[in-house]
Formats: sequence, structure tokens, C-alpha cells
Amino acid sequence: MNLSREQMLAEMGITPIWRLRESGEAVPADQAPDTLPAVEASAPAAVASPAAPVAVNALDWPDLAARVANCKACSLCEQRKQAVLGVGDLQPDWLFIGEGPGAEEDVKGEPFVGQAGKLLDNMLAALDLARGNKVYIGNAVKCRPPGNRTPEAAEMAACWPWLERQIELLRPKIIVLLGKAAMHAVLHDDKSLASMRGKRFEYRGIPVVVTYHPAYLLRNLPDKAKAWEDLLFARRCLREAGSVAGELPF
Ligand code: URA
Repeated sequence: MNLSREQMLAEMGITPIWRLRESGEAVPADQAPDTLPAVEASAPAAVASPAAPVAVNALDWPDLAARVANCKACSLCEQRKQAVLGVGDLQPDWLFIGEGPGAEEDVKGEPFVGQAGKLLDNMLAALDLARGNKVYIGNAVKCRPPGNRTPEAAEMAACWPWLERQIELLRPKIIVLLGKAAMHAVLHDDKSLASMRGKRFEYRGIPVVVTYHPAYLLRNLPDKAKAWEDLLFARRCLREAGSVAGELPF
């Protein structure tokens, strides 16, 4: 008689046979796909368990990007075309943080590519800066809020670990918060934007300055002058931070 291994062990009274699912969870052989390797019931399942997911604060940039691309931490993932991590120099002096991707950003996968983005690029050019050259641009939330609405506090909280890790990895010399949502996400402050302008805040030792969101400036042209003042103030903060850190001029 030609018995299979399972039948033989059953004959010997050693049942059930356990197999490991891909997840590492042990299941009786009759519930497991045949393609998986057979192991004895006594084999410690923990040995075959997949590695625990890496903590967000230990992710490198490529892993962070992959995790953000697959993030389902809030319902914004349901309607997005793609998550928008950010764009620019990964060793920036300047980090600009906006609110969240709009319709065009959702399609292109890059922040600030619409009208507000053109204004932001002009603001950067006025400072002799450009996205990608000592500048990184990101957002408080990585997925487009439906109808381009302002992200809710819970959505920003769900997305915060990604932004927090971005800041840790980028280590910018200055952070400029564009609008109230970014101000709320990073400084956790809900005061009016007007009352926060012109002040130097800090996030983990990095100077932080608040200014108007470019989309607001498109609707309120006279406030562009105030935004320019804010950017000049941010540049002074950056230079002061550089001299405090002992950077030599040559
Ligand atoms: N507005 C933002 O706040 N972020 C973008 O990426 C685009 C528009």
C-alpha cells in the first residue's frame, strides 16, 4: 500500500499535520493550500513570522515613499488617484509645507503644480530659489481632500507621522508653513494666521515661519506684500540659524 506522508502520520496517530500560511500563522493541513511547506505542529510559528513592520521613525526615504503610496490611515485614500509625498531637494535649506494636493496634484503626483503652484514658484524665484534646488515642498496631508476642501484635523493627525518623518530625514534649516492647515499640522496651533505671522517658532530646533497660502494670495492680491515680508523674515531666520550653527562665510 502506498500511503501519503499525511496518511502515514495519521495511521501513526500523529495528527493533525500543520502547515504555515504565508502570514506565518499555523493552520491545519486540510485548510492550507498545498503549495505551502508542511511543518510539524510543534514547530514554533514565531520563527517563521514575517518581520514586524518597521516603525515610521526608522524608515529611510524610499521605504517612507513606499509606505505613503500605500497608506490607508484615513478615508482620503478612497478617492485619491495617488498619494503625493512631495518634491524637491532631499537635503534642503528650505521646507515649504502646504495643505494637501488639489485635483492637478492628484493627477501629476507633485505638490503645487496648479495656479497656486505657479505663484509659489514665483515667490521662490524672488528669493533666488527654485523647487528642487535647496528647496523641498510638501503638504500637511498626502491625499487630495475631495472637492479640494480643507483637510480635517483627524486627517492631518493621521498623516502627521509621515510629515514628521519627512522633516526628520530632510533636516531643513527653515520651515515655512503655507496657510492655516500647515500651521495647525506642525505647530498644533489654531490661532489666526494673521496673529502668527512675523514670529519665529521652532520645531525640534528648526526655525518655523508662517505665511499665507498661495491660493489665498491669488484671491487677496494686496496680501502678497505681507507674504513677501514673511519670506524675507524667514530668510533672516535661516541666516541667523546658520550663523548660530557656526557656518563660515568662506
Ligand atoms: N495647495 C496645497 O496646499 N498643496 C498643493 O500641493 C497644491 C495646492
